[in-house]
Amino acid sequence: MYKSKITGVGHYVPENVVTNHDLSKLMDTNDAWIQERTGIKERRHIKKGDGNSTSVMGVKASKIALERANLTPNDIDMIVFATLSPDMYFPGGGVQVQEMLGMRTVPALDVRNQCSGFVYSISVADQFVKTGMYKNILVIGAENHSGGLDFTTRGRGVSVIFGDGAGAVVVSRSDDESGILSTHLHSEGKHKDELALDGPSTGYWVPEIIEDNPQENIPYYPYMNGQFVFKHAVVRFAEVINEGLEANNFTANDINMLIPHQANLRISQFIQKKMRLSDDQVFNNIQKYGNTTAASIPIALSEAWEAGKIKDGDLVVLAAFGSGFTWGSVIIKW
Ligand code: ACO
Repeated sequence: MYKSKITGVGHYVPENVVTNHDLSKLMDTNDAWIQERTGIKERRHIKKGDGNSTSVMGVKASKIALERANLTPNDIDMIVFATLSPDMYFPGGGVQVQEMLGMRTVPALDVRNQCSGFVYSISVADQFVKTGMYKNILVIGAENHSGGLDFTTRGRGVSVIFGDGAGAVVVSRSDDESGILSTHLHSEGKHKDELALDGPSTGYWVPEIIEDNPQENIPYYPYMNGQFVFKHAVVRFAEVINEGLEANNFTANDINMLIPHQANLRISQFIQKKMRLSDDQVFNNIQKYGNTTAASIPIALSEAWEAGKIKDGDLVVLAAFGSGFTWGSVIIKW
């Protein structure tokens, strides 16, 4: 069995800053409501004509991660791309990255696990590296939410929360003791309708939708039962972090940096309190970017690393919870 390690991290967010005040011009909302409920002050949105898309942002983040790993696209043996908002319904974002980076005909796999997508993707990459099948895997989380949200008062419960961006890491074969120690994944499909987007899908009968909504566009907008999601998130986050710690004989005290999926600042604060972690042990940047689902962990990881908050030998924990429900954690000795 080989060992695996994150050897490079990178992120990219669009330049266009959208504040809570900007949103209040589009819908009946306000800065106080959004900040109090979510902690979000602003987010980034792709702007028409800025050349960005989910896969383009993924490529920008990947180039930084590759450079920091001292690798070129030619060194990569596989792409794992996590997104719920690919440029095309199919094919996925992975093949677009393969083309844009001019890579060999390496496998490209899209992971559809929403907010947990990046944690699931790291776990997939980890298995391929540890079995010895591949040496270097590019793992990307990227989202273009702004292209698919309802920015009228009807959609305000969801659309104020999400933002656009991308993060990427390189998972490589490693010889030393540090690296990815373990990954822990779960799902509970009975809650699939609590945070979901019905279409487009083959189980979604478009003529019926048009018939049911004669006055409106086809409602391809996500639905979220916010309070239900909140209650499950705080339980599952703590559970899966503890599962990972226990599997490696660590306790919460040993954590140098917890990077939770940036779902909502209140969720992160709740977990921090529940696990008795100090402010220095938890990284949050949802205030600036909103919830970028599969991109939130690699963006936060990259920012924390750039700020010198993650050092060699640190115990770094990644944890996510999201639609499905799906959840998971990654335990890393950096
Ligand atoms: N601005 C102003 N008012 C709003 C807005 C808005 N953007 N959105 C909803 N409201 C109104 C509602 O219409 C409602 O009005 P009413 O009382 O007249 O009916 C009122 O505010 C309260 O609405 P609730 O949905 O009950 O508000 P709540 O306090 O539950 O906050 C929130 C909503 C922020 C979504 C909360 O439930 C939450 O934090 N949920 C966790 C889910 C989450 O964070 N999801 C992130 C994505 S999922 C993930 O990443 C895991």
